[in-house]
Amino acid sequence: MGPRILVLNGPNLNMLGVRQPEVYGDNSYADVVDVCAAAAAARGASVEVRQTNDEAELLGWIHDVARTRNFSAIVINPAAWTHTSVAIADALVIPEIPIIEVHISNVHARESFRHHSYVSPIAAAVIAGCGLAGYRYGVDRAVDLSGA
Ligand code: DQA
Repeated sequence: MGPRILVLNGPNLNMLGVRQPEVYGDNSYADVVDVCAAAAAARGASVEVRQTNDEAELLGWIHDVARTRNFSAIVINPAAWTHTSVAIADALVIPEIPIIEVHISNVHARESFRHHSYVSPIAAAVIAGCGLAGYRYGVDRAVDLSGA
């Protein structure tokens, strides 16, 4: 069995396709799942893709990774929590596995409150502004770093 990659998505990403298509594009959340699955399959890896609008649920998922050690890397689009949550950044260091931060839009070309990320300092890589392909690159990099 190849590397197991966990892809986590934060709030409002279930609304892709409906939400500000001029910023996030026309693709749906189901397309995110498909992109991640294809990227993992191309590398002989497996992927699990999750989304939540509940910060506590996301924290619990990260804690479970630390307890069970069942994933070799995490790809995360923390969405708005990127800019607000010390708790998520703190949790992401607990599993001691590579963290890849992905944003669909180029957060640095948007409002100034999106320029700061609590996650970037603990991330092995940060991908922004590549649309859904960012998840493909993120999963690919996560496989590169798995077991590294
Ligand atoms: C986002 C960018 C964030 O600033 C925003 O809050 C999101 C999505 C992105 O994928 O571009 O919800 O993470």
